[in-house]
Amino acid sequence: MLRIDSHISRGPQVTFRIDGQAITGHAGETVAAALLASGLRRLRTSPGGGGRGLFCAMGVCQECVVEVIDAAGASHAVASCQLEVSEGLELRSRTFVDGH
Ligand code: FES
Repeated sequence: MLRIDSHISRGPQVTFRIDGQAITGHAGETVAAALLASGLRRLRTSPGGGGRGLFCAMGVCQECVVEVIDAAGASHAVASCQLEVSEGLELRSRTFVDGH
C-alpha cells in the first residue's frame, strides 16, 4: 500500500473491483489514485503492447482510461483520474487485441 498514513484524514473506506480484483479506496479520491496506492499502475495496453497508466492526472491525456461496467453488463470508457471511487464500482482495464 503506497499511502501517506500520518497527519491525513480520509473519507470512508470503499471497495471496488478492477478485472475482478478487489481494491480499497477512500471516498473523495479518484480511481486512479486508489489504484496507484494499491500498486496497480498498468491500466491499459497500447496497440504495440506497451503498458499505459496514470500520466497527466487531470483528464487530458486519456492514458488512464478504464471501462466502467454497469449493472446490465454494458461498459463505457472513463478516464480513471476523473472518476471518484464508490462502493461496488466494477471496472475493467483496457487491452487492445487485434488492433482494437
Ligand atoms: S492520466 Fe491523463 S487523462 Fe487520466
